[in-house]
Amino acid sequence: MASSLKPLAERATSVLRSVRSVPAKAQHPRIRPLHRSFQTSVTPPKIPDFAFAFDIDGVLLRSSTPLPGAHEALKYLQESRIPFILLTNGGGKSETERVAELAEKLDVDLDVGMFVQSHTPFADMKEYHDKTVLVVGGDYDKCQRVAKEHYGFQNVVTPGDIVCAYPDIWPFSKIFLDYYKTFAKPLPKPINPASLADSLKFDAIFVYSDPRDWGLDASIILDVLLSESGYLGTLSSKNGDASLPNRGYQQDNQPKLYYSNPDLWWAASYHLPRLGQGGFREAFAGLWNAVTKGAELEKTVFGKPYQPTYEFAEGRLRAHRKKLFGHVGLNDPLKRVYMVGDNPESDIRGANDYKSPHGSEWKSILLKTGVYQSGTEPSCKPTVIVDNVEAAVRWAVKDAQKQRQ
Ligand code: G3P
Ligand code: MG
Repeated sequence: MASSLKPLAERATSVLRSVRSVPAKAQHPRIRPLHRSFQTSVTPPKIPDFAFAFDIDGVLLRSSTPLPGAHEALKYLQESRIPFILLTNGGGKSETERVAELAEKLDVDLDVGMFVQSHTPFADMKEYHDKTVLVVGGDYDKCQRVAKEHYGFQNVVTPGDIVCAYPDIWPFSKIFLDYYKTFAKPLPKPINPASLADSLKFDAIFVYSDPRDWGLDASIILDVLLSESGYLGTLSSKNGDASLPNRGYQQDNQPKLYYSNPDLWWAASYHLPRLGQGGFREAFAGLWNAVTKGAELEKTVFGKPYQPTYEFAEGRLRAHRKKLFGHVGLNDPLKRVYMVGDNPESDIRGANDYKSPHGSEWKSILLKTGVYQSGTEPSCKPTVIVDNVEAAVRWAVKDAQKQRQ
């Protein structure tokens, strides 16, 4: 795909070169007219008062294949110096690695400062850096390495490490042991309920990416949440005690549970949406409900549509905008952000509900290239529904023009 776009891009540039000679406005040093299909008479101001936040899966990519027009849309924004960030509920590798891959696939220059993925906000949770955390999800030990090598967490254990040391903890994973042994690390401490001082204790549980082995991952998380203060291999005596709040569940200093991505569905290469991390979360909630006979499950979920992730993203967007123009004064407010997404429940609901601490207005553009099935009523009403990412950029640039009049 990327290689087939190059001649197109070159062709587009030659088209641009030919077009430039038409209207004076087109000769603005910074702003170039769009590819013919993009043509619009809009010339954004020196520092545009608007910007974009693009979702990835179902907007720019389907699994790892670029969607038509993704390169052109981003290229146009870069050539027009209209700021944008990428805001995804995906994850599972470091921001640096992911940005390098995306830049390659989409054939545009990108940097980590304009990229937010589901677990990026975990990097700020410094209170756990010297604690022991359980990191769940993703391929091999990629998420463990992100937490350790990129986010500064010192003691990071995966369910794979645990099942390699104690295969009986989830007997059904014995068939997967060869896989786990390729990356498993020794545990910082053994499971030793007889002497807790020298036993493996968790202080937090992070689900970084879509779990691959739901059985093992759910079983380990359950063991830790039913344990005494996070000591794996123990059972809290408070569990089921009706005299206690929540019938004694999660009342014994058990570690907090953090999910990075709420998506029940996501747009992969298959023609129908696939279950995401939210599918695992719902399955685990069912397990917890059965095991605890209906006790509440205390947890924190990051990712779109939640306010903290949008606030984090807006912070990145503003910093990137400042970097792009060298200076952004009071006369250059960021008035509007166009959130382009394919998932009504995360991208659209998030942008619609977002309360910007900086007062910027977020508009939501829903595409037909991912989770949302064209012709159906979206579960959350967007500002507008358009076919694809090119149409989204065209609509937004025109809308921004209208807003300035
Ligand atoms: O696992 C990723 C998926 O949930 C959605 O990613 O880029 O559409 O937010 P994205
Ligand atoms: Mg998406």
